[in-house]
Amino acid sequence: MFILNNSDSVPLYKQLYNQIREHILSGKLPADTRLPSVRDMAIELSASRNTVDGAYQELYAEGYLYSKPRSGYFVSALDQDVAPQTLSGKPSKNDYLPGPPSNFAYDFHPARLHPESFPTELWRKCFVESLRRNSQQLVQYGDPQGDWGLRCSIQSYLERSRGVLCDPDQIIICAGLQQSLDIVANILKESHSVVAVEDPGYHLPRFVFQNHSYTIVPVPVEPDGIDLNHLKASNSTIAYVTPSHQLPLGYVMPVANRLALIEWAASGGKYIIEDDYDSELRYHGKPIPSLQGLRPTGNIIYSGTFSKILSPALRLSYMVLPYSLLATYRQRYQTYFPSVSLLEQRTMAHFMEQGHWERHIRRMRMIYRKKHDILLQSIETHFGKRAVVIGHGAGLHVVLMLPDTSLSEVEIIGRAQQKGIRLFPFSDFHVTGQPETTTLMLGFGGMNSIKIEGGISILSQIC
Ligand SMILES: Cc1ncc(COP(=O)(O)O)c(C=O)c1O
Repeated sequence: MFILNNSDSVPLYKQLYNQIREHILSGKLPADTRLPSVRDMAIELSASRNTVDGAYQELYAEGYLYSKPRSGYFVSALDQDVAPQTLSGKPSKNDYLPGPPSNFAYDFHPARLHPESFPTELWRKCFVESLRRNSQQLVQYGDPQGDWGLRCSIQSYLERSRGVLCDPDQIIICAGLQQSLDIVANILKESHSVVAVEDPGYHLPRFVFQNHSYTIVPVPVEPDGIDLNHLKASNSTIAYVTPSHQLPLGYVMPVANRLALIEWAASGGKYIIEDDYDSELRYHGKPIPSLQGLRPTGNIIYSGTFSKILSPALRLSYMVLPYSLLATYRQRYQTYFPSVSLLEQRTMAHFMEQGHWERHIRRMRMIYRKKHDILLQSIETHFGKRAVVIGHGAGLHVVLMLPDTSLSEVEIIGRAQQKGIRLFPFSDFHVTGQPETTTLMLGFGGMNSIKIEGGISILSQIC
């Protein structure tokens, strides 16, 4: 009934233990079944008595077996409803793991960065330096709000480059936007239950707020940002917006609308969540200053990330809370431990202190501007008047409207896939309805110029 494998790295007694336990949990060995004596089982398995005795002792100690004097070991009665899962009851890999990622020759995913862009050597130096300087701190958990030095570096960077006015005290280091929003959703949920989101807009915030049982109100986006009349007419008291580079349409909210949005928030304790995710990447003209800088004492929660310029894999982002929310945040989260490794935080702080961060931004802006221009040029060459480009001039993607095509987005994505082209569905950004015109989203960060040109050429033949 049981088979032991001498070449297995699992000890023989443990193999026997596992198999008997499995039989008991699955009911193959019912309660009160008498197990063969140690001697008989050892003979049956061609194993030593120690092996069998070791397995029986462990099963006995854990309560799977009971013993009767001079009669041997018997299977205990287990309540099957509360019994631990059997080993074979574990989900098989295919039950829960997505398939391996497909490799596409042309990847237009909007979240891809330039493959050779991570400053490995500089990062290594900063990492080693932070390890040398901070070894004493590595025996503690650290500040739940994030490393103080990193918060100071972020504060001065934000003030200089984004016009954000805050104290390092207001900054919270997070492992990405979703974690920031998780915190916001938690600290606001006593007095707020409805969140307005841009439609079309970034889809992940919707899921975070839904997980906290908020009602989501989609608000249309106009070329001057979220539709303020629609917002005011809604019963939402929180608005999540991307005013400096609307995702996905790339619109910039003009200052008059920003001020009107700030007034909306000021009337009656409402909150704006300003997601300033990629403002460093503006290719023509001046960077757009943040909304937070227009009213630093307002009800504005500002969020930024290192995912677009440095690496999304680092999971390093930050959020600036208004003073009105700091006390609640601290009261709720003072017992939490930090979610980002202290070493990564100290490395990032060192990277910023040494001026590498701002040099890296300038370098990446040049690289992406070149890719962006090549993409526009390729669209012009291959699509000509068949396509209308919107949202160009910033970020890592543009949006392509195809008024003349008879194909739907799904059909184009399917055909593109067969030609080795990956497209991210634009429709994922829509909360309600679908765009009237077939619309594609084209990320250009992850491909070189030749691939961008080649991919657009093939795509133009498909559409
Ligand atoms: C609108 C928007 N905000 C924020 C982020 C970055 O999020 P994170 O800091 O979690 O990487 C992204 C990434 O694609 C984004 O599209």
